[in-house]
Amino acid sequence: MKKVKWGVLSTANIGVAKVLPAIQKSNNGEVYAIASRNAESAAAAAGKLGIPVSYGSYQDLLDDPEVEAIYNPLPNNMHIQWTRRALEAGKHVLCEKPLALDSSEIVELIKLRDKTGLTVSEAFMVRYHPQWLKARDMVREGALGKVTAVQGFFSYYNVDKGNIRNIKEAGGGAILDIGCYPVTTSRFIFDEEPLRVASVLEHDPESGVDRLASVLMDFPSGQASFTVGTQLVPHQRMNIFGSEGRLEVEIPFNAPPDKGCRLFKGEGGFYPGDQEIFELDVCDQYTLQAESFVRTIRGEQENHVPLEDALRNMKVLEAIFRAGESGRWEDVE
Ligand SMILES: NC(=O)c1ccc[n+]([C@@H]2O[C@H](COP(=O)([O-])OP(=O)(O)OC[C@H]3O[C@@H](n4cnc5c(N)ncnc54)[C@H](OP(=O)(O)O)[C@@H]3O)[C@@H](O)[C@H]2O)c1
Repeated sequence: MKKVKWGVLSTANIGVAKVLPAIQKSNNGEVYAIASRNAESAAAAAGKLGIPVSYGSYQDLLDDPEVEAIYNPLPNNMHIQWTRRALEAGKHVLCEKPLALDSSEIVELIKLRDKTGLTVSEAFMVRYHPQWLKARDMVREGALGKVTAVQGFFSYYNVDKGNIRNIKEAGGGAILDIGCYPVTTSRFIFDEEPLRVASVLEHDPESGVDRLASVLMDFPSGQASFTVGTQLVPHQRMNIFGSEGRLEVEIPFNAPPDKGCRLFKGEGGFYPGDQEIFELDVCDQYTLQAESFVRTIRGEQENHVPLEDALRNMKVLEAIFRAGESGRWEDVE
């Protein structure tokens, strides 16, 4: 099969550092072109990564007939606009999370996707990682008994005023940047949607973005809760609790591409030695994501993270913001 030629919108750090090297390792795609607002930056990134073509404008990249799929890691507030433009140019799009700032934008994007017949996915790489597939299999098989509680934590320390995470207009803040992960993985594990949410949000007085958030999600089968913070010591963990067992996902989100991930299964003991450890093979979740996306483009499989899923995740994020404002439970619409 001919490899898909990817084009990349911007020299974003996540692309250059992680996603583009991962696509270059994939078995069904190649990074063919990269664009930047600045031609020199594009050429420098292309030179560093061995990408054949570079452009000094995003639109020039979209106009290149050789490009079949776009990877969009622009700031959050630019995701929808450039994903739409890419679809209008006839390209499939893998767009970074969060896909939108407002669920109505995703509703409109679904219409455009259906009109064009192209593939669009929100880049939730965790959803392709074998550790999450195994965790969900264990839950489905009843290995933990009846699962009714999921708990998560995700934090880092970043007070850089110029970083897009600390710029309100760019779609910054903890919920949109990292809260989206425990939301998507909790929905994945319960395999259903939360009915209502409660949340406490604390905002940075200077930037105005939410920097600390604790959320409770009420699912038909149980409860999920998480705390995320952008001015805390870096840490991440997810725990899944059932009537007969507990499963801990050690590095749930930033799973490394060069080390095996671990799941810890406990059945009641309180000490590390009481746990069963599952070591997963080394893999790069961004490579798995890219390969899955290309198989969908080629019609070999269904889309694992379709826009309908992005819409449901966004509706939960919106309810979290509403609950933070109102101080009450808010239904997920
Ligand atoms: N899936 C993951 O693991 C993961 C991890 C980190 C981030 N992300 C997501 O990836 C996206 C990018 O994050 P990042 O940390 O890589 O961001 P970043 O390094 O700040 O990159 C954003 C890029 O957007 C372009 N851009 C265009 N207009 C801009 C503007 N007005 N201000 C700033 N940049 C502008 C710039 O590229 P040019 O100058 O080349 O045009 C810039 O390099 C975000 O949506 C984030 O949520 C995902």
